[in-house]
Amino acid sequence: MRLRFIAIASTLLFALSANAVPPGSDDEIDARLQPYGTVNRAAVEEVMVAAAPAAPLSGAEVYDTYCATCHAMGIGGAPAFADTSAWAPRISKGMDALMASTLNGINAMPAKGLCMSCSDDELNDAVTYMVDAAQ
Ligand code: HEC
Repeated sequence: MRLRFIAIASTLLFALSANAVPPGSDDEIDARLQPYGTVNRAAVEEVMVAAAPAAPLSGAEVYDTYCATCHAMGIGGAPAFADTSAWAPRISKGMDALMASTLNGINAMPAKGLCMSCSDDELNDAVTYMVDAAQ
């Protein structure tokens, strides 16, 4: 009974592995000697494509994702979104000054509004979005 089970099990195992490259063959050894990363190149490239920078975020998207944390409610003295009186004196400084504050930070406002992956253009669009909402 037990021998019969072993016989069936090993027949099954053999059948299952029949398509696989037999261990110790040249092909199997070649496959094991592939440098790391080349074996599954298609999968690696897929991940790299996914990690490539996507299309630029819109001003609203940057605002929603990064700036709203502080600017939605006006946390820590941040001029709140669409708060005309809070923004008026800042808007009067001009866009260049606002961009300088955004890129370098100002007081409790962190550099780039904490969007380290944002391009200057994306940040500019986010500032424009906030400025437009407060006009
Ligand atoms: C951690 C909180 C925080 C985040 C996140 C944040 N801000 Fe601010 N922001 C502030 C504070 C606080 C001020 C007011 C600073 C001051 O004048 O003392 C401010 C002020 C500003 C000003 C006015 C600067 C000036 O010169 O008057 C702009 C423009 C601005 N933020 C843009 C952004 C943008 C764009 C983002 C997102 C990319 C962002 N902020 C994210 C806290 C934040």
